[in-house]
Amino acid sequence: MKKKYIMAPGPTEVPPEVLAEGAKPVMHHRTPQFRKILTEVLDNMKYVLGTQRSVHILSASGTGAMEAAMANMTSPGEKIIVASIGAFGDRWEAIAKAYNVNVVKIASEWGYPVKPEELKKVLDENLDAVAVFTTLNETSTGVYNDIEAFGKLTVNHKAALVVDGISGIGAQPFYMDKWAVDMIVVGSQKGLMIPPGLAFVAASEKAWKLVETSKNPKFYFDLKKSEKALTKEKMPDTPWTSAVSLICQLNVALRLIKEEGIENIWDRHRKLARAVREAMTALGLKLFAAENPAVVLCSVVVPEGLDGKALVKKIRDDYGISMAGGQGKMEGKIFRIGTLGYTDRFDAIIGVAATEMALKDMGANIEIGKGVKKAMEVLIEEKY
Ligand SMILES: Cc1ncc(COP(=O)(O)O)c(C=O)c1O
Repeated sequence: MKKKYIMAPGPTEVPPEVLAEGAKPVMHHRTPQFRKILTEVLDNMKYVLGTQRSVHILSASGTGAMEAAMANMTSPGEKIIVASIGAFGDRWEAIAKAYNVNVVKIASEWGYPVKPEELKKVLDENLDAVAVFTTLNETSTGVYNDIEAFGKLTVNHKAALVVDGISGIGAQPFYMDKWAVDMIVVGSQKGLMIPPGLAFVAASEKAWKLVETSKNPKFYFDLKKSEKALTKEKMPDTPWTSAVSLICQLNVALRLIKEEGIENIWDRHRKLARAVREAMTALGLKLFAAENPAVVLCSVVVPEGLDGKALVKKIRDDYGISMAGGQGKMEGKIFRIGTLGYTDRFDAIIGVAATEMALKDMGANIEIGKGVKKAMEVLIEEKY
């Protein structure tokens, strides 16, 4: 028997009570019962995002929300700034190209965030840019951006701030309104602890002005249609058939989030990530994130002479744990241990133990148990 775990930065494990909710009979979406659930979900999403703005629910993976953001915020021929720190930041540029939007790109070296001074310089040089598209947590490198500092720059600029919070929301500090973020996009299969299939968009007043004037072709992801459905009657609705089972599951997950408290959840993620990071360092491994290391995953450099893809495969096939390998130019060179969403202290220890055992199997020069010991010490010190 091999017990299976997901320790990837999404999809993540789903709490049993959320799984059970998914097994219930499907209800019709145009009913008072469902719209009551939708009301609660939308309110609790505002709590998670730190916003008073409406939250739009899309039936899509996170990239659908990214496309919705681009389609609704821009018009062909307009200029945007993309502040990219990895593969998902680069995705903004690819989507912009599909919509004939011109991109001024800031690309940090992988492993580093974009420095606010750098963004300020590019904003000052591009006063006609309509928006900055960037990433809260860059899952491909395990580095986060200082979105609060970015917001302080864009708030006094024409450009709106659009943030991909797909892997960061529900795991690390984020306050949409307080930080002056104009649009946030989120996915369901990460910090929100439900299966893949839902995505979310919330827009500030500044963003909404761009939505009103956007000339891009759009239909399914037209946020104006969604806003109309949300506000047309006493209880909110979605313009198309709602993904009812996922939304019911989200309702249960959001109740769990509220019960634990979002700030406590951020702190839990910080502790778990610190435990894994220090465990890897204790084993003599090098961390990939040079600055602003993520709290949703730990990116680790594969030891010299070992095949990173084989390591991730071994951890999955021999030890039953799905972790993530490197993406794009880091394929085979790093591996990523996720501690995202429904993750507790012993999950972190299991992940560290499996990494040690697989590395030992592959002939790495490590002292077995050293990482686990360190992880336990950190968790005790953190009073977790
Ligand atoms: C930061 C970030 N952006 C975008 C995506 C893409 O989301 P999806 O695969 O749900 O479309 C991911 C998924 O891993 C992500 O982590």
